Amino acid sequence: MKTDVAIIGAGPAGLLLGHLLRQQGIDVVVVERQSADYVLGRIRAGVLEKVTVDLMKQLDLSDRMMKEGLPHEGFYLADGEKLIHINIAELTGSSVMVYGQTEVTRDLMDASKSRGLEVIYKAGDVALHDVAGNSPYVTYQKDGQEHRIDARFIAGCDGFHGPSRKAIPDTVGKTFERVYPFGWLGILADVPPCNHELIYANHSNGFALASMRSSTRSRYYIQVPLDEKVEDWPDDRIWDELAVRLGPDAAANMTRGTALEKSIAPLRSFVFEPMRYGSLFLAGDAAHIVPPTGAKGLNLASSDVAYLSRALIQFFKNGNSEGIETYSDTALARVWKSERFSWSLTQLMHRFPDDGAFGRRMQVAELDYIASSEAARKSIAENYIGLPL
Ligand code: APR
Ligand code: PHB
Repeated sequence: MKTDVAIIGAGPAGLLLGHLLRQQGIDVVVVERQSADYVLGRIRAGVLEKVTVDLMKQLDLSDRMMKEGLPHEGFYLADGEKLIHINIAELTGSSVMVYGQTEVTRDLMDASKSRGLEVIYKAGDVALHDVAGNSPYVTYQKDGQEHRIDARFIAGCDGFHGPSRKAIPDTVGKTFERVYPFGWLGILADVPPCNHELIYANHSNGFALASMRSSTRSRYYIQVPLDEKVEDWPDDRIWDELAVRLGPDAAANMTRGTALEKSIAPLRSFVFEPMRYGSLFLAGDAAHIVPPTGAKGLNLASSDVAYLSRALIQFFKNGNSEGIETYSDTALARVWKSERFSWSLTQLMHRFPDDGAFGRRMQVAELDYIASSEAARKSIAENYIGLPL
């Protein structure tokens, strides 16, 4: 098989990129290790920045999102007795969209066939070859046969564990990493949310987040030590803990229900540089991970793909390779700012086992400052809605 761009991974990054290129008549093939159902079974964050909403609009795939999504004009930071409202709309004139990332993936997947976006699911042993030069190719196994896709470029959209990043030699790539000493235990349930806005709470028992997917489906998280198991957390224990950490007002409005999904995810900050090597580009989780506290994971994948699609369209339409040359630096400049915001919100809202009394006083002082300073709240709001492309 021959194509312009071989895309590895059919998560949000790979599918968005595929659609944006197809819209301009560029040939792409997407290869995905899992089945479509498996990809749709992954429950992930649910806050979309303007960059993601705009890409879906540009693709004319935003109808369901505009109908079912919930525009949010603010959120809360809670610390014990203190409840700080970050009024995004007033502070920035903008808003975010609460719409599950899984739903974004579903909308992109549903439109693949009619838009001529070829996605090969259940592709085994995907491997990248000759990425340093101008004639790279991808091989994979399917139905007991080896297949080969020759391409001009390869886009590695294969998440943190995929093979693309590893195809860049150690002598070229550099990683930057912080692993946090806790994880998030998430619970999804068909119950109305306890509040119409998200609440991020810092409690002496640890962090908690009240979020939602719709007016009838809630998503909550609590900070747990890394050695905890989901089995240690029957539904009632999670609801009890949420009631304590989110505070009496939220607890009074919280409806308990059976967990549709429960999982523990570790928190990590990670950046790989550069995001291009020869004919290989990295986009999304393949190049960087943020802790979920700022809800930036998908939105960073979106900004990568916005830059990368422009660069590739410029190349295939006008023979101009400037965007390709600058892709890594351009994408990384935005990545690092989102890394900084996600790290600082994580630092502010969690209990770190080794931080002691000094670390706690720093949190209290910072939260006090945020509560009293519009400039501080504006800075948080501006980062939360997403920095401009
Ligand atoms: N071969 C082919 N596909 C692979 C391989 C492989 N060896 N390894 C991983 N993949 C696929 C995964 O199965 C997954 O569907 O690559 C896809 C990567 O998708 P995500 O992990 O969702 O990453 P990305 O598209 O960058 O999304 C970024 O969305 O999914 C969230 O947590 C993620 O918030 C982050 C954002
Ligand atoms: C979610 O709804 O899953 C969610 C919301 C906000 C976050 C992280 C996750 O910061």
